[in-house]
Amino acid sequence: MDEKELVRLAFEAREKSYAPYSHFCVGAALLGESGEVYLGCNIENASYGATVCAERTAVFGAVARGERRFQAIAITGAKEGAPPEQAGYAWPCGICRQVLREFSAGALIVLVARTPEDYVKTTLAALLPDSFGPEDLEG
Ligand code: THU
Repeated sequence: MDEKELVRLAFEAREKSYAPYSHFCVGAALLGESGEVYLGCNIENASYGATVCAERTAVFGAVARGERRFQAIAITGAKEGAPPEQAGYAWPCGICRQVLREFSAGALIVLVARTPEDYVKTTLAALLPDSFGPEDLEG
């Protein structure tokens, strides 16, 4: 699975976005250590606080299928119907960074895509420095 293919899958995942309130549609493609890819989209709710981000639906779907370690995640988000050239980089929110941290060491690769060809490559460690994780509760 190469980076470009993971980014392409994030765009595919975005097609399933349920965002009738914000009209901001997000897709995520999460690559497990097994090589399996888990897709996620944001799912909004009339009770706004019950909304779940695309990154978290991907992680939760993966964990529910038995995968808990990940290599990379690709994310894309844009206003519904906006022309591709107007799309910005949809950086993962703070809660999603922390959820990714639970199941990935800092080395997790994060690809944030504006278009299928234009994406930024970074790591979870860069996006969430000095993080708190499961190891901090040990001993
Ligand atoms: N959203 C995500 O899916 N991921 C993020 O990291 C940031 C925000 C969604 C939540 C909501 O449905 C919409 O984008 C606007 O906040």
